[in-house]
Amino acid sequence: MKISAILLVGGRGTRLLPLTLQTPKPMLEVAGVPFTEHQIRKAAQAGISEIVLATSYKAELFEPYFGNGEIFGIKIKYAVESSALGTAGGIRHAAKLLDPCDLVVIFNGDVLGAHDLKKQIQFHQEHQADVSLYLTEVDDARAYGCVELESNNQVKSFLEKMDNPISNLINAGCYIFKSEVIQQIPVDQVVSVERQTFPELLKAGAQVFGYLDNSYWLDIGTPAALVKASADLIMGKVFSPATPKHEGEYLAAADSSIDTSARVEKGSYIAPNVIIESNCQITGSIIGRGAKIGADCKIIDSIIAPNTQISAGMIVNSNYLGF
Ligand code: GTP
Repeated sequence: MKISAILLVGGRGTRLLPLTLQTPKPMLEVAGVPFTEHQIRKAAQAGISEIVLATSYKAELFEPYFGNGEIFGIKIKYAVESSALGTAGGIRHAAKLLDPCDLVVIFNGDVLGAHDLKKQIQFHQEHQADVSLYLTEVDDARAYGCVELESNNQVKSFLEKMDNPISNLINAGCYIFKSEVIQQIPVDQVVSVERQTFPELLKAGAQVFGYLDNSYWLDIGTPAALVKASADLIMGKVFSPATPKHEGEYLAAADSSIDTSARVEKGSYIAPNVIIESNCQITGSIIGRGAKIGADCKIIDSIIAPNTQISAGMIVNSNYLGF
């Protein structure tokens, strides 16, 4: 059984503006590495040998970092949509680059999940599914694609974001497709997997199953979620094989300079060439490369852009400065 993967990283990331003005969402640093690296290493760890990055917005920024994937233990290819084709259009376009395979795992490029991918693959095979969806339970499903399940885990209905969700089970952003099912998506057209492909597959009687896993899950699509994801990874609340090794409750690059009187805590990330002056308190925050934090600052649950200077004595709380 040969299993390949497609990673959807072509969106504009509008909810993360202004962080995504220069950098596409999947290349923003989370726990010290581009978010995409967490997903690529997770795929490699699950035994996937090839992954195609489905890119569009700022497509040129991915390949210089990830190259052919050799150092990540997986073969990486790049499919570039000259104009965005939507999620299913992007999957169909990227699938042209895949070597022949039986199953294709599709990852949304903005989900941090601790779900067991090997178990989902096993579930997919046991149910002889055409498509299986990783599902998670949330308190409020209004902002997500919502799924209704039969008792045998077969998907009964799939409805995109709505005011009165039919269940609290949501599409958690990792799908497995039988390879031939992807071939049914129209080529070079704008198609949404959530709004078109899933509902159409159900209507046509395809075998679509939901794999429920309620372990850690977070959509990193907003600045508050992005900074939380980074802190949770560094604090060990969720594991990723890409999180750099560190001691204690923060992660600091070797060539950063932190005054001994400063307190750095709760999953903060201090990038290379950062200077943190005396008596600062940095809590649950991301301090970007080359930033300088003057004495006596308090930075809480915030993101400071690379090369930004924060004047002495400032209090920054749940804010995103310098982008
Ligand atoms: P928002 O604008 O903030 O909603 O973010 P987004 O543009 O990333 O959209 P959304 O969160 O709905 O996208 C889910 C996943 O699909 C993300 O990983 C996106 O990068 C990806 N994606 C969305 N649209 C496209 C597209 O047209 N082509 C490709 N290749 N990927 C896409």
